Amino acid sequence: MELTLLLAFVFILTFCATSAQEAMEMVVENESNLLTTYIVYVQKPQGEDSLQYDDLHGWYNSLLPESAKTQNQQRLVFSYRNVVSGFAAKLTAEEAKSMQGREEVVSIRAERILSLHTTHSPGFMGLQTGFPLWRGSNYGKGIIVGVLDTGINPSHPSFSGEGMPSPPAKWKGHCEFTKQRTCNNKLIGARSFVKNSSRDLPFDDVGHGTHTASTAAGRFVQGASIFGNANGTASGMAPFAHLAIYKVCQLDGCYESAIIAGMDAAIEDGVDILSLSLGGPPFEFFEDSIALGAFAAIRNGIFVSCSAGNEGPGYSTLSNEAPWILTVGASSIDRKISASAKLGNGKEFHGESAFQPKDFAPTLLPLVYAGKNGNESCAFCAPGSLESVDVQGKVVLCEIGGDIARIDKGQEVKNAGGAAMILMNSEIRGYTTLADPHVLPAAHVSYHAGLEIKEYINSTSAPTATVLFRGTIIGDPFAPVVASFSSRGPNNVSPGILKPDIIGPGLNILAAWPVSLDHAFPPMNMISGTSMSCPHLSGIAALLKNSHPDWSPAAIKSAIMTTAHKANLEGEPILDQWLEPADVFATGSGHVNPLQANDPGLIYDIEPNDYIPYLCGLGYTDKQVGTILQQKVRCSEVKIIQEAQLNYPSFSIEMGNTSQSYTRTVTNVGPANSTYVVEVEAPLAVEMSISPATLTFQEVKEKLTYLVEFIPEDESLRGNNTFVQGSIKWVSLSGEYSVSIPISVIFN
Ligand SMILES: *[C@@H]1O[C@H](CO)[C@@H](O)[C@H](O)[C@H]1NC(C)=O
Ligand SMILES: *[C@@H]1O[C@H](CO)[C@@H](O)[C@H](O)[C@H]1NC(C)=O
Ligand SMILES: *[C@@H]1O[C@H](CO)[C@@H](O)[C@H](O)[C@H]1NC(C)=O
Ligand SMILES: *[C@@H]1O[C@H](CO)[C@@H](O)[C@H](O)[C@H]1NC(C)=O
Ligand SMILES: *[C@@H]1O[C@H](CO)[C@@H](O)[C@H](O)[C@H]1NC(C)=O
Ligand SMILES: *[C@@H]1O[C@H](CO)[C@@H](O)[C@H](O)[C@H]1NC(C)=O
Ligand SMILES: *[C@@H]1O[C@H](CO)[C@@H](O)[C@H](O)[C@H]1NC(C)=O
Ligand SMILES: *[C@@H]1O[C@H](CO)[C@@H](O)[C@H](O)[C@H]1NC(C)=O
Repeated sequence: MELTLLLAFVFILTFCATSAQEAMEMVVENESNLLTTYIVYVQKPQGEDSLQYDDLHGWYNSLLPESAKTQNQQRLVFSYRNVVSGFAAKLTAEEAKSMQGREEVVSIRAERILSLHTTHSPGFMGLQTGFPLWRGSNYGKGIIVGVLDTGINPSHPSFSGEGMPSPPAKWKGHCEFTKQRTCNNKLIGARSFVKNSSRDLPFDDVGHGTHTASTAAGRFVQGASIFGNANGTASGMAPFAHLAIYKVCQLDGCYESAIIAGMDAAIEDGVDILSLSLGGPPFEFFEDSIALGAFAAIRNGIFVSCSAGNEGPGYSTLSNEAPWILTVGASSIDRKISASAKLGNGKEFHGESAFQPKDFAPTLLPLVYAGKNGNESCAFCAPGSLESVDVQGKVVLCEIGGDIARIDKGQEVKNAGGAAMILMNSEIRGYTTLADPHVLPAAHVSYHAGLEIKEYINSTSAPTATVLFRGTIIGDPFAPVVASFSSRGPNNVSPGILKPDIIGPGLNILAAWPVSLDHAFPPMNMISGTSMSCPHLSGIAALLKNSHPDWSPAAIKSAIMTTAHKANLEGEPILDQWLEPADVFATGSGHVNPLQANDPGLIYDIEPNDYIPYLCGLGYTDKQVGTILQQKVRCSEVKIIQEAQLNYPSFSIEMGNTSQSYTRTVTNVGPANSTYVVEVEAPLAVEMSISPATLTFQEVKEKLTYLVEFIPEDESLRGNNTFVQGSIKWVSLSGEYSVSIPISVIFN
């Protein structure tokens, strides 16, 4: 099966003029008077829905307690108008408490700090691939991708405006950069919502935002490489789309008040796609800023793609679970920067490293495992742990973990006089290896390789090993493999919605970086995380939006999900970090297949108001649903539905001993006259009935509804399974389309 693997690029900015930021502005009067940023949701009084921004700002200000109004400092930090009615204000605990009683105040709570979804694995690698969707979608021309992240380095060639068309007339955003480093027709907007220094410019001091923006919509950049590896032309997924940058994060995290402000601005500015590679633990949707911002976005026709989180491989570890968000997990690409561990007994274990020294002779050297004495800190090669161990001129086996950065382990080996490092995975990281820019010859190998290496060390009095560097190898037949860190379902907040939705490239991804790590130009870095897979999907959504301007966010999402690859390059089921078949809680619908997503045949559409009966069905109060919808809702007047009845392109069922029935409605976006026949893969111990089993369309945009019944079979058939999975596939008689949705069934 052909698998279109995606591009990833990292570019690094070469200057850091603004890196010396001043300490974050902190208004501290005295200890009992510490000001904290609170998020306040309010309800507009009747008849004031049409308040203009200035009036809104004035009205919000009027809601602050007297003590906050009389102060000199600006207490009102952000006024929101699109995402929610509400604001962020710096308040003392006492002031916040005093506001709780006010009639207009729906809720007030201290802001949270969310995390970037990257694993810190610097390295690099350049990918290029023929990408047939590009031509059909004009490379995303005319589409605006909004990226909420750590800012951007505007000077990187990935963000050059040369040859780019002007932004569309609807664009209302602006650029806070000035002088030589400014915006252009590629980078059409850049704003900072992070109040750290007096020069609050949207420069990227971290690198993450530059990386994600270039992955979504970076230009073609020739000669992208790192440490001489993976040399090629780099580009983002939608190289002709425009970028609008909203800086809401810095090194210590992402401020919730800034995230809402960034989404509020992006909606007003006129972006088409929003990309957020950040998140927190699961929150109920009415108090999840990203979910609220995303709902306002989809109400405005804006597609929202978010990272699933890096808390895997355990179950129920997801971020960003709302059904109106595309939740993106991470998997490998078919490229490795190979560094293998060769033992004295002739065995060789494949591994990875971005640092590929040319002058390291592949001769066998003594091999030691400092943890052999049972000391954990020696096993992890913790800083200082090898001081009293004789590793001089030897190859040292180190274990991953212990809360020590992989590169720091290599640094410890180097400091202690070691010649090279073999870095072995923990059991839960399995076969997920990372190509890091190590400081010495190194190979990151799997857990199983590590076990065999330990056995070999035990088996002989004079173990030896070396590291062989094989450069960039393309064509891993197992790709894509789900990355160990990629967060897994089931969905915590809404168990009846299957998440993640999709997986995309997120392991060892090369893209733009603000500074050069290897003195090469353009500066690039290779990092991993669902932070990296999310912008791949944002860029693909931009391509789909260009070729189907009339598709809703839900339609784009359905197209991406129903066409996803279930198989790897070898044609076998997609595997996980243990090289076992990955389940639907790891892969969702599967690996994104951009070309097929452009022509899905059928779509499962959802209108914003369809979420009202769903949200009422979650047991939310009128006020809570009203906060999400930003309109008055009376659940008592709504025909409430169960989660599984939302017209979502997947099913997540909790199965007791009674049957459950749901409907789905599909819209024909293929040829007018087409007939589809259903193919069901029923989960183990579940009988399924679909009616009708044939759908015959006569028009484009025609909608047809089918009924699905899940019928429990005898409990003895379940074996030891706590959950099982299956699929419903509509296959066109023409053979052209196969529209597949996954099913998970949890037994209870
Ligand atoms: C403010 O910016 C500086 C420089 O980038 C950084 O070192 C510092 O951590 C930032 N402050 C906070 C609170 O993140
Ligand atoms: C600190 O703040 C409290 C409460 O506003 C006030 O009563 C107290 O006098 C202040 N102390 C100082 C040293 O300013
Ligand atoms: C990159 O690859 C091209 C084509 O294979 C080659 O001509 C060029 O010398 C390479 N550049 C570097 C820096 O390795
Ligand atoms: C483990 O090794 C470290 C570093 O050599 C040492 O400081 C520590 O005391 C050792 N721990 C034990 C339990 O022996
Ligand atoms: C190697 O030997 C040590 C101590 O002799 C033992 O604890 C360990 O389990 C052995 N490891 C393997 C992989 O055989
Ligand atoms: C179905 O499950 C419920 C609760 O789990 C139980 O009380 C009931 O006896 C079961 N019914 C049958 C027919 O097994
Ligand atoms: C679809 O089929 C109908 C009836 O068979 C026919 O009248 C119509 O022309 C067909 N439409 C297209 C676009 O082929
Ligand atoms: C179910 O689990 C039990 C206990 O772990 C085991 O003995 C049995 O073989 C398992 N059954 C199946 C079908 O795997």
